[in-house]
Amino acid sequence: MTPANLDWANLTFSLTPTDYNVRCTYKDGQWGPIEVSDSEYIPLHIAASCLHYGQESFEGLKAFRGKDGKVRIFRMEENAKRFIRSAEGISMQPMPVELFCEMVRKVVKLNERFIPPYGTGASLYIRPLEIGISPLVGVSPATEYMVIMLVTPVGPYFKNGFKPIKVCMSREYDRVAPKGTGSIKIGGNYAASLNAGQMAHKMGYGNMLYFDPKDKTYIDECGAANFFAIKDNTYITPGSETVLPSITNMSLEVLAEDLGMKVERRLFKVDEFKDFEECSACGTAAVCSPIGQIDDLDTGESYKFGEEGVAGPMTTALYNKLRAIQYGEEPDTHNWCEILDL
Ligand code: PLP
Ligand code: COI
Repeated sequence: MTPANLDWANLTFSLTPTDYNVRCTYKDGQWGPIEVSDSEYIPLHIAASCLHYGQESFEGLKAFRGKDGKVRIFRMEENAKRFIRSAEGISMQPMPVELFCEMVRKVVKLNERFIPPYGTGASLYIRPLEIGISPLVGVSPATEYMVIMLVTPVGPYFKNGFKPIKVCMSREYDRVAPKGTGSIKIGGNYAASLNAGQMAHKMGYGNMLYFDPKDKTYIDECGAANFFAIKDNTYITPGSETVLPSITNMSLEVLAEDLGMKVERRLFKVDEFKDFEECSACGTAAVCSPIGQIDDLDTGESYKFGEEGVAGPMTTALYNKLRAIQYGEEPDTHNWCEILDL
C-alpha cells in the first residue's frame, strides 16, 4: 500500500502497513539506541515472558495534519507517563518519558507520507508496546525488554463515525478484577474483554458497558473507551479504580469546564440513567462516540438518550472543540499538542 492509493476519507480503524517502525531494547540494565526497522516482524525467543506470562503493555496516541499543514502530536507525555505506570504494574522495566517521546517523534517523521491530509477526518495512530523478551520458564519478571512503536493511518473507530451507537451491559462479564489491572493498559485486559465484545457485536451492539467488578453496581467503562454523561450542564464520569484513566476523558473534562460546565468524577449507578441527557464513550480511538441507547441485558431495561440518530449538543460541542485543537483550527491554550519539527 502506498499513500497514493489510500482513500484517506474512508479509512476505518484498521491496520494499514507503513514504511518503518522503531524499536529499543533494554538489556544489561540499560536502554539501547533507537533502531529503525522496515520489517513487520520481530525475532522472539519461544520462551519469552510476554508469550507465556503476559508481560505486555501498550499505548495509543495520534498525530494530526493541521489546517496550517503542521503535524501535531496530542498529549504524548501523558501517554509516556501511563506507559510507565503500566510497565510498573506488571513488573516490567519502565521507559523514561523523554526516550518514549523521542521514539514517537522518530516513528512519525519516518512515516510522514502516511499522515492523512487535513480535511479527511483521519489521523496517524501511534501504537507503542512493551514486551518482556527474556526466555523464562519460572514465573518471574524478564530482565530484557523491547519497546516497539508502529504507526498506521486510521479513520473512525466506530464505523458510523460521529453517530449515536447502541451499547449493552451485563453483570455476567468483567473486564478486570477488583484491585487488579484495570487502571493500566496491558494486553491481558483486552484478552479478558474479547468474549464480551464479541457477544455484544453479534447482538448488534457497538460495545459492552462494564459494571464495576466488585459490587456490580456502579458504571465503569465502555469497551476500550471511558464513559461520560451530561446532566444539568454537568459532565459526569465514573470515579472508579478499575477504569483506565483516559487522556481523552481528562482533556474533555478540561474542555467541559472551558465551556462553562461543572465536572463530576464520581461513582454512579444505573438508576441515574433516566436523568442523563447525553451519554458518550471517549478515547483516543473512539474520540467521542455518542451513545443513543443502553440496553441492560440482565433486567431487559432499555435507556434512551436524546433525539434518535442525533448526537447531543454538549457532546457535539466537546467533540468539535477537541478536534479543533488537534487539527490546529483553534489555539491550543492548554499546550496539549507538540508541533513536530519536520
Ligand atoms: N479505556 C480503555 C480500556 C482503553 O483501552 C482506552 C484506550 O486507550 C481508553 C479507555 C481511552 O483512553 P485514552 O483516551 O487515553 O486513549
Ligand atoms: C485507544 O483508544 O487508543 C485504544 O487503545 C482503543 C483500542 C483500539 C485498544
